[in-house]
Amino acid sequence: MHLSSLLHQFTPEVLITKSRPYVNHSVAFKKPFTAQERAAMLDAVGLNVFYFPAEMITGCDLLSDSGTTTMTNEQWASLHLGDEAYGSNKGYFVLREQIQKVFGDVFFSLPQEGKPNAFLFHQARSAESALFSQLAALGRKLGKSFIIPSNGHFDTTRANIEINQLTALDFFSQTLKDGNADDHFKGNMDSERLRALLQEKRDEVPLIYITVTNNTGGGQPVSMQNIHEIASIAHAAAIPFFLDACRFAENAWFIQRYEEGYHETSIAAIVREMFSCVDGFTISFKKDGLVNMGGGLFLRSDGLFVKKYPQLPDALMNEQITKEGHPTYGGMSGRDIMALATGLQIVLHEEYLTYRIQQVHELGTMMLQQGIPVLTPFGGHAVYLDMNRFFVGTSPQPDEFRGIGFTALLLAAYGHRACELGHFAFGVYDPVAGKETIPEVNFVRFAVPRLRYEHQDLQAVAESVHCLYQARDKIPGVVVTYGKDLPLRHFKARFRFKENH
Ligand code: F0G
Repeated sequence: MHLSSLLHQFTPEVLITKSRPYVNHSVAFKKPFTAQERAAMLDAVGLNVFYFPAEMITGCDLLSDSGTTTMTNEQWASLHLGDEAYGSNKGYFVLREQIQKVFGDVFFSLPQEGKPNAFLFHQARSAESALFSQLAALGRKLGKSFIIPSNGHFDTTRANIEINQLTALDFFSQTLKDGNADDHFKGNMDSERLRALLQEKRDEVPLIYITVTNNTGGGQPVSMQNIHEIASIAHAAAIPFFLDACRFAENAWFIQRYEEGYHETSIAAIVREMFSCVDGFTISFKKDGLVNMGGGLFLRSDGLFVKKYPQLPDALMNEQITKEGHPTYGGMSGRDIMALATGLQIVLHEEYLTYRIQQVHELGTMMLQQGIPVLTPFGGHAVYLDMNRFFVGTSPQPDEFRGIGFTALLLAAYGHRACELGHFAFGVYDPVAGKETIPEVNFVRFAVPRLRYEHQDLQAVAESVHCLYQARDKIPGVVVTYGKDLPLRHFKARFRFKENH
């Protein structure tokens, strides 16, 4: 009997535990630190986890999935092929081909082919800075104060809009605001609110933005239907439509898995469709580019943005040359460019994406099974703990920022780092009124770096959160000792625990 005819009696589908679709290529040992040592350090840095030395993290560092990817052996090999020429390094052409393959030919013309439309930056926020400072300059010339609506601006995107005196609006979906709603695409933009805005202020909207996946909105994906709907609303109003495309591949995975009509479509084809109706996009390659540094701004060569604002591509290039580097490397080294070109191939592999997103879901499921209030369904890159529900019944005051206290205790006691993205990060203190504006969302985010941790690591996180959940009435609020009224205050502020809790 041939082995192949025996196989049907031994179906691998019955196994609950499947192997990872990769093996370790190299590992880094952690140093041992005690909870007391971590606590002393946290006190010294004013309980701000951003300033806590990563070397002292004995558990999982889930502060961010950005730039924290473990690169593959193919990417490490690509680094060696990096060409560090000042002008037109080899990687520029390799990356161009890959960007065209993934997103479409129209997003990367060579300078001699017409208007510049592909701008490399060292990370997305500098691409955002270039875009919004140029739009603001245009607005001033036209005597308009521009508004940028989105399904949820990321914090640096919002900051880059506001620092240029433009207004950033978040039109979260209704289902996102209802923590229990059963909707696979809670990241969608509320199109009714967009329509209402355009009816009143169409001439003040130079651009409509959709963030995929919606990081500020619980890491939730956006449906293809919503992308097309928002694109057609934008285009009917003659307004360019952009994606903040940091997690484009993870978003495509959700469309394939959950949206009617896409189950048989490849991830690559879904990505092409997502980008088929955009006039441009900004992107941080530190997420789905699978690299540690890199970002960009790309304009459709025949799109509405370049038609409506014909002077901006050249202005953007000047901005890039003066602040980042020659257009053929922007803010990136030749090595990073080569690793990125390889990363953009790997990220579209379905087995990689399925494993990656299921790992995030495993972490969420472990917490959910312990009764811990997490946002469901789970997003693609992170699990979001709902701090309003977490502290229910313990009389939390919004201005005592219990989420900050939670992240400090989690790090000190159990050695895991997570990030408050809630009342403190998104709140604003008005020094005149002496009052806090409380934002709609109040999360602590556990962002899972790509290809870095294993099941056992994440199990330890879920267990630690469970311990803190059981003792939640013992987690004090904090007093802000520095930086309450600063912009982007969560990166800079210092705190101490309240006495007499
Ligand atoms: N847009 C989104 C949706 C992001 O999540 C980020 C970064 C950026 C833009 C800015 O990109 O870091 O390359 O300048 N998010 C990271 C995070 C920092 O932790 O979520 P960048």
